[in-house]
This record gives sequence, C-alpha cells and structure tokens, in this order.
Amino acid sequence: MIYNKITEDILTDIKQIIGDEWVISDRAGMEKYSHDETEDLRYYPEVVVKPGNTAEISTLLKLCNRHLIPVTPRGAGTGLSGGALPVMGGIVLAMERFNQVLDIDEQNLQATVEPGVITEEFMNQAAAKGLLYPIDPASKGSCFIGGNIAHGSGGPRVVKYGTIREYVLNLEVVLPSGDIIWTGANTLKYASGYNLTQLMIGSEGTLGVVTKIVVKLIPAPTVDALMMASFNSNQEACEAVSAVFRAGVIPSTLEFMERKGVQWVIDKDGLTFDMKPEDAAFLLIEVDGTNPDVIFDDCEKINAVLEAHGCTNVLFADTATQKEELWRIRRTMGVSVKANSVYKEEDTVVPRAALPQLIKGIKEIGDRYGFESVCYGHAGDGNLHVNIVKANMSDVDWNTKLNDGITELFELTVALGGTLSGEHGIGFVQKDFMPIKYSPVHFELWRGIKQVFDKNYILNPAKIFNR
Ligand code: LAC
Ligand code: ZN
Repeated sequence: MIYNKITEDILTDIKQIIGDEWVISDRAGMEKYSHDETEDLRYYPEVVVKPGNTAEISTLLKLCNRHLIPVTPRGAGTGLSGGALPVMGGIVLAMERFNQVLDIDEQNLQATVEPGVITEEFMNQAAAKGLLYPIDPASKGSCFIGGNIAHGSGGPRVVKYGTIREYVLNLEVVLPSGDIIWTGANTLKYASGYNLTQLMIGSEGTLGVVTKIVVKLIPAPTVDALMMASFNSNQEACEAVSAVFRAGVIPSTLEFMERKGVQWVIDKDGLTFDMKPEDAAFLLIEVDGTNPDVIFDDCEKINAVLEAHGCTNVLFADTATQKEELWRIRRTMGVSVKANSVYKEEDTVVPRAALPQLIKGIKEIGDRYGFESVCYGHAGDGNLHVNIVKANMSDVDWNTKLNDGITELFELTVALGGTLSGEHGIGFVQKDFMPIKYSPVHFELWRGIKQVFDKNYILNPAKIFNR
C-alpha cells in the first residue's frame, strides 16, 4: 500500500477538524507517542492528534481515507506488542481526552465509559458503589480501558471472572469510512447476527476506533484470602496449578513467579520478602467471595493440593498491607525484568494442564540457544509471560539466532494446544510468527474482514498480519 505524506494543506485541514491546540507536529512533542512499552522500538508519526469527540474522529477518518493517510489509534501506550506504534507514519490518534465515566447504571449493573479512562479509576468508581469491574492488568494504574479492549485484556482475575470479552456489552465505533455505529445492544445476551462487539475486541485498532464502551458490572466480593506458596522447582509449582481446579476450587487468581523475577523486584523496590535459598518458584493464590466459611474451606482444599505437590511453605497474608506487598511483587515484575536486562517478552498460553511441559520446554530451548528466561504470569489461565533475558548471549547471537529460538518456543506452545498470545496481542512484534499457528485460510479470512471494514488499509496498518 502506498500512503501519502501529510502536506501543509492536509495539516491545515486536520487542525480545522481537531482544533490547533490538539494537534502536535514537533518532534519533541511527539516523542511520547513514538513508543509504547514494547522493548525499545521507536516510530515517529508525522502528526499526533487528540480529538475531543466522536464527530471529530469521523471527519478525520474521512479525510484520511480521501488522502490515504495511515491512522494509528493509541490508548495510554502501555502495550507490549507494539500495537500503538505508527510504523507507517501518518497520524497517531491519541484517545486521552475521552476520559469520562459517563454513567454507572445501578439498576442494570452496567456502566458506560469512554476509552481513555484509566482502568483503575473506573474500577474504583464501580467499587464505591459496591460493584466489581474485574479486568485489572498489571498496568491498571496507567492503562486505558480502550487499550484493554484493543487487546482483549487480561490480568490476574481472568481465571475466575473471565477476560474483558465477558464484560463488554456494546461499543460505539467510528469505522474507517467515518460511519459511526453501535456494535450490539446493551443486553446480557446477543443472538442477533454476527457479533461485531466481539469482533472489535482484540482487533488492536485495525477495524475501527472505539469511542464509547458499555460494560457489565457484578456485585463485589466482600471477603478474600491471599497466600504465597513456595516450591523447590518450577515443575512442582506448575503441576500444582491444574490440581487446584481438579480439587474443586476456582481461585480468583492463581499466579506463577520464578525466583529470579521475585529477586529482581526485591532488588529494585527494596521490598522485604523472606526467600529461602531453596525456593525456586512461587504461586500467588487468592480466593474471594461473600461467605468466610466458603473461603476457609477453599483455602483448606488448596493447602492439601499444595502439600501433595511438594509445596514447602505457605505464607498467608494477614493484613491489607501484607496483601498489597505480595501483589506489588507480582505486579511490578514486568517493569523489574525490563530494568534488569535487555529482554524480549513473549505471552504464551496453553491449556492449563500443559503448563509443566511448557516451562520445561522453554528452559530446554533456552539452554540450546544460550538465553536465560524469567517466567511468570497467569498460571491459572495457562498464560505464561516468558521474558527472554539476554544475559551472556553475544550481540550477534541475540540478533541472529534468537529468532529461531523464539520460533521453537512458539512451535512448542502450539504443539501443546496453545497459541501465541494470551493477552498482550500480536501487534507489530509477533505478527511474523503467526503462520506457526494459523493457516493460509485464516489469513484469507482476516484479510477479507479487514477489507470490508477498511478497504484502503488506513487504520493501524501492518499490525496482526501483513496485507
Ligand atoms: C503482567 C503483564 C506483563 O501480567 O501482563 O505483569
Ligand atoms: Zn499479564
């Protein structure tokens, strides 16, 4: 696809649509929009625009379609797959002014929010009314709910509560043509044609720009318990994961952390957590609900499973502060790994019981290629964040051989019944690995869908798959 550059005349038109003060075209001002949290990639757009309402986006997309200008929608820029990088130049469409919680409907347990609302702020507003919005990625304090929709997020509580897919009821979307639609209905069920709401979720800003979001909420749990279980091997910890569910318990979170990840958080944040020399891996397990007796019973069952799988110690968090500290270890792990080494992060996901085979295989591949890895993540979902750490690998090997190692890692994931990403998306950095899992028929279907929504390929081009 040949795109056009933004000329002075086009820039004047853009400013007329969005308003001068919301258009940035100087390099320093655009720096923040040239990257997300994915490794060290930098792509500058030609212009950053910050629209203030849906109609402006519609007019802008019509203009971009006429002139063949690429448009990359952007939330808070916390993505880990390069989804918000303007790799073809053009416009970054920053959604930060769409920052209002428009309505919390306590009659229907629903809310209408704008995509630039910070996830945690929305969670807090819902909590103030005794309601739970459970989608809380590690970046909840800074990510936008619109970005969560783009990737079909995730976070620790998916294991009990599901992903954002289970909460979004309806979306207002501006299509690349400039048409504005609601994708579905504000209902809990939907059997009325192709489900465009679900098609938008996880489409990484390639099919439309989400401008309003209707989500369902649920009554908030009132009691919870949190425990940190230690193991002498990754293998034992991973084997305990699926056994917990087989024992009849669905925890609200079941997270896995390798020792090195915990160590790096402690080193970076000065947190106190008493690790024994033989501790190799940890499970952070939470149960929640409304009945303390049930919680107690669940904890007993979990304990029995942990013991049977070689768990050496279980630390129960007694106070809110202790819970907060344990969660801080888990939530800041990604940032700590990043601070410690040149790294690449993969987001493998397999059926839960295949986790022991996955982690064993990852280490074997690492041994063969000479890279180290720090693994952690949402073990209850079979979702392992694999941080490949450069460590002693030479620059040459890192730049030439690593790709083969990552290919093997994904081949293993697929052989175990899994796929490339559980929650971070494919974006820009994983798309070349997609043929490991998906056939030419899949690509044909995806390209067909893209063509229907965006015949000129202006919206977030070069993401998920190549044209
Ligand atoms: C986490 C992010 C990286 O789970 O998904 O910490
Ligand atoms: Zn995660």
